[in-house]
Amino acid sequence: MKFFIDTANIEEIREINSWGVLSGVTTNPTLIAKSGGVFEDVIKEITEIVDGDISAEVISTDLDGMLKEARELAKISKNIVIKIPMIEEGLKAVSILSKEGIRTNVTLVFSLSQAVLAANAGATFVSPFMGRLDDIGMSGIQLVEEISKVFKNYNYESKIIAASIRHITHVELVAKSGADIATIPYKIFKEMVKHNLTDSGLKKFLEDFKSVKTKEK
Ligand code: G3P
Repeated sequence: MKFFIDTANIEEIREINSWGVLSGVTTNPTLIAKSGGVFEDVIKEITEIVDGDISAEVISTDLDGMLKEARELAKISKNIVIKIPMIEEGLKAVSILSKEGIRTNVTLVFSLSQAVLAANAGATFVSPFMGRLDDIGMSGIQLVEEISKVFKNYNYESKIIAASIRHITHVELVAKSGADIATIPYKIFKEMVKHNLTDSGLKKFLEDFKSVKTKEK
């Protein structure tokens, strides 16, 4: 399973990228607004940090607007993936962009039907939102598992990005589901590294080594 980071914060991206674990970055209009930067500049800077798939979202909801934004964003770098909302005009845009060789990530996916429609339109990635489904009393992981199964059954090429991840258990369930990618917030990456037994074990090793004789350097 590959990891993307779900943020537009440059420092967070730099830090997690330095671990050598990132295959991409996903942003959305909310995350870009939080970053406080100029949209195109933030996206360009991200492409210069992470050598992977960088999702930038359109804000138009009509076909012509989406296509215009997508084509402009795609010029920033070959690594750009255009995030398109799961609406009727969005499907049309995905279909046209895929024929132009522009990669897409269909976002705000909340059902298996939506995921299959996006795959048939030619989406490179589909992004089911786990946390937001859990929030309304449904199961985010159940949706990810269902999409995973159906995409395998029919050999769809679209990759699944499990998004709206809220805790480590989500990440681990996604890994077991067979989904391709989890896009993870910075805070959860930091939690994933930690284990009390790692910390106490390291402390003991370092204490015990104080009594060991070593060669002078
Ligand atoms: O980037 C899309 C998705 O990951 C958003 O997550 O936490 O706002 O539901 P969240």
